[in-house]
Amino acid sequence: MNRQFALVLITVAAVFAATTAIAQQHRPYDQVMKDVGATWASLKKNLDSNSGAAAAEDAAKLQGLFAEVQGFWAPLNTNDALNLAKRAQEGAAAIGAAAKSNNMKAALDSYAATQKNCGNCHLAHREDTGKGGFLIRP
Ligand code: HEC
Repeated sequence: MNRQFALVLITVAAVFAATTAIAQQHRPYDQVMKDVGATWASLKKNLDSNSGAAAAEDAAKLQGLFAEVQGFWAPLNTNDALNLAKRAQEGAAAIGAAAKSNNMKAALDSYAATQKNCGNCHLAHREDTGKGGFLIRP
């Protein structure tokens, strides 16, 4: 193997490693939102069936997911989206606390209030492609 070829190989390996690191740092936004959607639905089911512990687990997962959402919007300087993500995270915490103490009425109230953050962010920052998908509008 000549030196130049070795150098090319090293460069390719370095670029590959860097891209993988970036990919691991941030998974694609639609994957996070799909997770949010599924967990949000599961949370409602658990609240409706009085399963406090399972609902609290979903709420805790949502808190983490919205932290991820917040991390996505932070570098874009899109303040309203950042605030909506923050409020959704706080909402998930409130739902979780109420569910843990089996106060389903309070948990469902927080659920309804938190859902407004989903709608507001989608209105402002989600674009329907009309082909069964969505785009991010920063
Ligand atoms: C900070 C903004 C923001 C908040 C808050 C937010 N979303 Fe989203 N969501 C988006 C954007 C932007 C898209 C479109 C881009 C995409 O699909 O990746 C989206 C897409 C989605 C999708 C479609 C995913 C797909 O690609 O199939 C679902 C489901 C979803 N959101 C559910 C929710 C639910 C449920 C909540 C609240 C519990 C919520 N979102 C809160 C911004 C937000």
